[in-house]
Amino acid sequence: MEVLSVASEVYPLVKTGGLADVAGALPLALKQNGVSVRTLMPGYPAVMRAINNPKVVGSFDDLLGAKADVLAVEHQGLDLLVLDAPALFDRPGGPYLDTNGKDHADNWLRFAALSKAGAQTAQDGIGGWRPDIVHVHDWQAAMVPAYMRFSDAREVPSLITIHNIAFQGQYGAEIFPDLDLPQHAFGIDGVEYFGGVGYLKAGLQASWAISTVSPSYAEEILTPEFGMGLEGLLSHRAGDLHGIVNGIDDAVWDPATDRNLRANYTATTLKNRAANKIALAERFGLDRDRAPLFCVVSRLTWQKGMDLLAKAVDDLVDAGAKLAILGSGDAALEQAFQAAAARHPGRVSLVTGYDEPLSHLMQAGSDAIIIPSRFEPCGLTQLYGLRYGCVPIVARTGGLNDTVIDASHAGLAAGAATGVAFGPITAMNLRRALRRAVTLYGESKTWTALQKQGMKTDVSWMKSAALYANLYKTLLAKKGS
Ligand code: ADP
Ligand code: GLC
Repeated sequence: MEVLSVASEVYPLVKTGGLADVAGALPLALKQNGVSVRTLMPGYPAVMRAINNPKVVGSFDDLLGAKADVLAVEHQGLDLLVLDAPALFDRPGGPYLDTNGKDHADNWLRFAALSKAGAQTAQDGIGGWRPDIVHVHDWQAAMVPAYMRFSDAREVPSLITIHNIAFQGQYGAEIFPDLDLPQHAFGIDGVEYFGGVGYLKAGLQASWAISTVSPSYAEEILTPEFGMGLEGLLSHRAGDLHGIVNGIDDAVWDPATDRNLRANYTATTLKNRAANKIALAERFGLDRDRAPLFCVVSRLTWQKGMDLLAKAVDDLVDAGAKLAILGSGDAALEQAFQAAAARHPGRVSLVTGYDEPLSHLMQAGSDAIIIPSRFEPCGLTQLYGLRYGCVPIVARTGGLNDTVIDASHAGLAAGAATGVAFGPITAMNLRRALRRAVTLYGESKTWTALQKQGMKTDVSWMKSAALYANLYKTLLAKKGS
């Protein structure tokens, strides 16, 4: 089976979060299920610099006003189609933000163009290749199914995956004439959303099936609390909505071979983690003592519950733990953690920015990773934590709920526990969870059992890739019927 995947970020070429990890790892895992995936992504400068010997396989003279080539290239096992449209993608800044941290003003055009290119590639084929299925990710690629629905050519069966419903690509009605869609597409069954244009809404409406990245989140988004306005549409389509939990690339994330660590280890050589803990203490300027070291690797945002953690820091230090934070995001949260670091020298420290190698060392040298998210479609850092013997302390929500087993009396007695989970999600309950983790850390046999059980957990893509492959097959069968 041939699949066209369309995504706005793909590890290892460009990454701002978990979407890139998934878009980069799922195709590799699908190979083992007899599915070959080609991934269409924008030709940002970082992408154009990284690829070698691309071949032009298609071109557009007027892709919503832009000239674009489609370049086919293989990169670290990924079969890529790079949309080389300099007017849209060749500029400084990140994939979504300019150098001042503001959205590129023409994001509506950039990602509509990506989607239109995706739809046309799927429907007409490219360089003699034709996909059986189109799989699109998040709002940036969500217009693909809509472009197919409102074109004259035959639709290719489509799946849209919601990685985060908080980001919807909502714009004013004034952009509609520039989207190159027929007038009747601007309606409740099309791209219209509260009087404007909604990209994610359009994709959810037009896709043959919808998935999201954990079973719990699939249920949560049917409610007003989590659905962010789309719960009605989703409830309508509940029969086509699937929750498939993310996996991780266990070759990239393997403590036995990871080159970003000072010392490699396995579940039977956990004592080697000590060298990584020292490396972290050096990097963060933390005391080199035996106290438990907790970490955070995260966007510093409200979604991630970082304001709750800021309120719990003093108590965490009082309980005897240290805290190393790697993250960037809201200026106010960065300041709150800088202030905490100033109050607690040697006990709390923050590195701001984005640092992939350091994110690996954090998982290998910290005793626990704190993830107090208010909502979390899946979450990947708890999965990396499980694989690295870095015990996850998580809020009971979304994918965190589906992947971490709490060290409750029953969980410990059954030998099933892999972390500490808390809810309802408040600063008070987070403080309690952190104290519980410190106590568990003090019972070293119990703590080691938690680490080992986590490391035994299957967090690979194996099961979930098979679920995606089955879903694709169901869609193909629908096409035939
Ligand atoms: P989200 O996509 O919502 O940010 P996920 O947990 O799914 O959350 O994925 C976050 C990804 O980004 C993980 O791979 C994590 O290690 C990485 N990450 C987050 N913040 C940083 C950072 N400051 N430096 C390096 N990696 C980071
Ligand atoms: C989003 C979500 C995160 C998820 C990731 C990959 O960024 O916030 O929970 O793990 O996508 O699916």
